[in-house]
Amino acid sequence: MKVTDGRGFNFDDFQLAYKIRSSDFVRIFFPSVSVLIAGSPKEDCHNVSLYSSYLSISNMPRTQGFGTRAIHAGRETDASTGPVMPPITLSTNYVIPAPGTHPTYEYTRDSNPNRSIIETAVADLEKAKYCCAFSSGSSVTAAVMNLLDAGDHVICVNDVYAGTHNILTKIASKHQIASTFVDMSVPENIVPHFKPNTKLVWVETPTNPTMRLTDIAAIAKHTHDHGALLLVDNTFLTPYFQNPLSLGADIVMHSATKYINGHSDVLMGLAVTNDEAIYKQLVFIQINVGGVPSPFDAYLARRGLMTLALRMKAHETNAMAVAQYLESHPAVDQVFYPGLVSHPQHEIAKRQQHGFGGMLSFKLKGSVDHVRSFLAALKVFTLAESLGGVESLVEVPALMTHAGLEEDHRLALGITDTLMRVSVGVEDIDDLIDDLSGALGVSHA
Ligand SMILES: Cc1ncc(COP(=O)(O)O)c(C=O)c1O
Repeated sequence: MKVTDGRGFNFDDFQLAYKIRSSDFVRIFFPSVSVLIAGSPKEDCHNVSLYSSYLSISNMPRTQGFGTRAIHAGRETDASTGPVMPPITLSTNYVIPAPGTHPTYEYTRDSNPNRSIIETAVADLEKAKYCCAFSSGSSVTAAVMNLLDAGDHVICVNDVYAGTHNILTKIASKHQIASTFVDMSVPENIVPHFKPNTKLVWVETPTNPTMRLTDIAAIAKHTHDHGALLLVDNTFLTPYFQNPLSLGADIVMHSATKYINGHSDVLMGLAVTNDEAIYKQLVFIQINVGGVPSPFDAYLARRGLMTLALRMKAHETNAMAVAQYLESHPAVDQVFYPGLVSHPQHEIAKRQQHGFGGMLSFKLKGSVDHVRSFLAALKVFTLAESLGGVESLVEVPALMTHAGLEEDHRLALGITDTLMRVSVGVEDIDDLIDDLSGALGVSHA
């Protein structure tokens, strides 16, 4: 049996003897199981005392279903009191038993029980070894840029989240990290852009907001042939619908602010990898740069994660119904949803995803005035910038999330003034369709 300290580091019996006082017996409460570790005699299992009273076990079989693992993976308990839900550990510092010893938790910027739980759980769901939680998706992006050296080059999908574009073009560039933006809808497009100093390829699939897809396995092959690393931003699909590491990616990132938490009340980012060297560097950046989530946010995100499977199924069912409704409506010019047969990359979606997700975008016929009157008439959908919460949201990228892009660049990507991005929530589908129908009736009366 493997035991982790909740941050992915495994301990064998010898290391455990160091972590756990030799006289102590450890019992970990886990749903319906009591697990004895470090050779503790069974009859003494009531003699519970941990060097660090928080330990997690990593022997959750990954053969168990996603929904089961979303609830149980990484669950730790405070063995002294045994609550089923972990407490929120607000303390910034921890008792050090003796100078020079290093218990699992020393200082909350380095690590924290609530952070460990969400990190372990998301690593499990992405079928990965390691995960690091950051204070936002953007701080993951910044941390990954910190893996690079001055003089390195990044190739990035051209239709990337606007904040990532800003980090590459306005922040990383100041540190002599150059970037090239490429339409990756045809994987071979990337090949001429590799340079001897290309160290990272950054993919977001589906893209935000035009829902273009990138063939991850094909891009991974080109990337590795050129000795670079592949990162996939998996925010839109979550591990429930897409596992980029299994398709060849080296790092997966999430804005956990979105579906992972799912309730629009936490800002958090996650970086996931199987590469120990990358993980150790990310931990070093996490600890020293300090862009880490609070214990409260980590707790909330772990709570939200428990229903990820349920939510993603409901998001997808509703999104498909909304996409089909919009596609059939005379006031709608075009709908972009990978689940529609009309999506130009529907076949890639079927091949590399386990579902189509809850995000879509569509172009309204007419002008921005039609868009404004449509938005003003909505009653259930909320005009707001973020996505991935249980509530349905709509936004106008050209005027909101992507307003900072140069107009030429924006239009070349297809982000016109009449394009709207929809995060389809989990409300009753009849209410969503009624709301869209009523608003389209007003805008195109
Ligand atoms: C695809 C994608 N990646 C990254 C981010 C940045 O995440 P955060 O807002 O958590 O910093 C966002 C935010 O909208 C996003 O949509």
